[in-house]
Amino acid sequence: MLPFVVAIDGPAASGKGTLARRIAQHFNLAHLDTGQLYRATAFLVLAADGDPGDQATAERAARRVDPAMLDDPRLLTEAVAQAASVVAAIPAVRRALLQFQREFAAHPPGGRRGAVLDGRDIGTAVCPDAAVKLFVTASREVRADRRLRELRQRGVAAIYQNVLQDMGERDARDEGRRAAPLAAASDAVIIDTTGLDADQAFERALEVVARALAAHGP
Ligand code: CDP
Repeated sequence: MLPFVVAIDGPAASGKGTLARRIAQHFNLAHLDTGQLYRATAFLVLAADGDPGDQATAERAARRVDPAMLDDPRLLTEAVAQAASVVAAIPAVRRALLQFQREFAAHPPGGRRGAVLDGRDIGTAVCPDAAVKLFVTASREVRADRRLRELRQRGVAAIYQNVLQDMGERDARDEGRRAAPLAAASDAVIIDTTGLDADQAFERALEVVARALAAHGP
């Protein structure tokens, strides 16, 4: 029996991470936040005073990413997020990180029957055969507002206009790059969370995933 794979893609602060965690917990599936791989790559480059846009430097860093780094709170800063979207545009970086993601989906850790992967290109490039594809989105203003609250909750002083501008720059890089740009797969279910809270978004996703799981078999 092939593992049951749920692919969740969408732009920054669309709610895809929260949704992915809740879906994984509810159905007892493994979860991989693939953004952390790009953030870890960027972090390694910045920690060595390197240039995230330099192909060879970024590729070397991507090859050094270790799963043990993925929970490091230092990956959560906006500087790392911006640099992550720079290294993510480099095809050699994406290639270096692909195998780990595919392996996670093919052999979910903990002997689980499946996995939830969230990112930008899971449904289009990493797991094109996923049993369920969700594309989670929201207006840029609502996403900036959510990110602002998140930052303030972590005690980071932030200004709405700056967060909005950073998000616009990152969206443009993620959507505009040639290597696996952020896009909804043609067979993805779109969930627009602009007017939804986390519970309502979860209800929508739950329905879609439960239906696919029933079709997938025991
Ligand atoms: O949490 P947030 O949505 O702000 O960002 P993230 O998911 O941690 O991703 C950080 C950056 O990594 C994104 O802006 C993308 O450029 C890149 N990324 C990617 O290219 N492909 C993925 N599957 C996941 C992230």
